[in-house]
Amino acid sequence: MAQEMFFCERSRRLLLAAIALHALVMLVLITVTPASAAGETAERVELGRNIYTKHCASCHGAKLEGQPNWRTRNADGRLPAPPHDASGHTWHHDDEHLFRITKEGPAGIVGKGYVSDMPGFADTLSDAEIEAVITFIKSTWPERIRKRHDRLNRR
Ligand code: HEC
Repeated sequence: MAQEMFFCERSRRLLLAAIALHALVMLVLITVTPASAAGETAERVELGRNIYTKHCASCHGAKLEGQPNWRTRNADGRLPAPPHDASGHTWHHDDEHLFRITKEGPAGIVGKGYVSDMPGFADTLSDAEIEAVITFIKSTWPERIRKRHDRLNRR
């Protein structure tokens, strides 16, 4: 009987320890995840802004507004550059997709001889620079769009 009590007590303690540990892990995840998942530090946003101005703004616009009539193909069959702001389509793609479009270029992603005015940036920008420019683009979105985009990322 005494031994039984001992085991009971032990498993109760184990259970409590497990619950406490679980709570601790959840707490750490909740505090750490939003910042690290978005990777959004002021330095990265600033780095991304500079890269954007240098490598993306000529087509996607200084204010991320894109080119006029961006949904309609030009006479040569190519699409104009879409906006990256909330009015555009960019936020419909998760982080990984945005990274790949930037790195490989739309033609690299679509394949089958698809032509696009946008080059891939694999030879121009490092992976960290591509991540920074995407972080900058995301930092300009209103909260409502960011939340929807976060949900996309979790899928
Ligand atoms: C020479 C013009 C040009 C430059 C420079 C350029 N883009 Fe693009 N981008 C385009 C065009 C045009 C498209 C439309 C896709 C297509 O051609 O099918 C596009 C599409 C995209 C998309 C997909 C958006 C969507 O809604 O599907 C992303 C993301 C993107 N560009 C990111 C970038 C980033 C980041 C940079 C800078 C590092 C950049 N682009 C530089 C022309 C450009």
